[in-house]
Amino acid sequence: MKRIVRTSSVKGTMELAASLAAELRPGDVVALEGDLGAGKTQFVRGLVQGLGGASRAVSSPTFVLLNIYDTPKMKVYHLDAYRIGGEDDLEAIGFSELLEQDGLVVIEWWQRVAGLVPQHKWLVQITAISPRVRNIAISLVG
Ligand SMILES: Nc1ncnc2c1ncn2[C@@H]1O[C@H](COP(=O)(O)OP(=O)(O)O)[C@@H](O)[C@H]1O
Ligand SMILES: [Mg+2]
Repeated sequence: MKRIVRTSSVKGTMELAASLAAELRPGDVVALEGDLGAGKTQFVRGLVQGLGGASRAVSSPTFVLLNIYDTPKMKVYHLDAYRIGGEDDLEAIGFSELLEQDGLVVIEWWQRVAGLVPQHKWLVQITAISPRVRNIAISLVG
């Protein structure tokens, strides 16, 4: 089943993400897609907040590749494949092991490394409609 929600502020996007966080279990994967500036990182901020973690700690892992946040519910492993050369580079930073940590694995630009991302995952597709408005589709696939 696919839920599609329209948000008109960062706050709205974060609240939607926080509501998804309530459904997440250790070992889950959240795969984010959407153009640069769509709001993927803001969505992750809302996920971490929803899990009871410090949303301010969330930043784009575009250059460091992997950020790890502690929350009362589970660790969050936040990756961004935008600048990852490909699946070999993702393997090199231990992606397969991350999937076995009973944390939450969240990956922006997941399609760039699609072969390594589990089929069973939460898919979050964000489309910018205007400078403030986003369509966000959430589905559990696989
Ligand atoms: N409804 C909205 N939801 C999320 N971000 C929004 C929204 N409206 C405006 N923005 C802005 O869009 C940008 C999203 O940035 P970011 O989350 O880093 O995008 P991405 O990670 O997809 O490249 C931020 O500057 C944010 O303030
Ligand atoms: Mg981002």
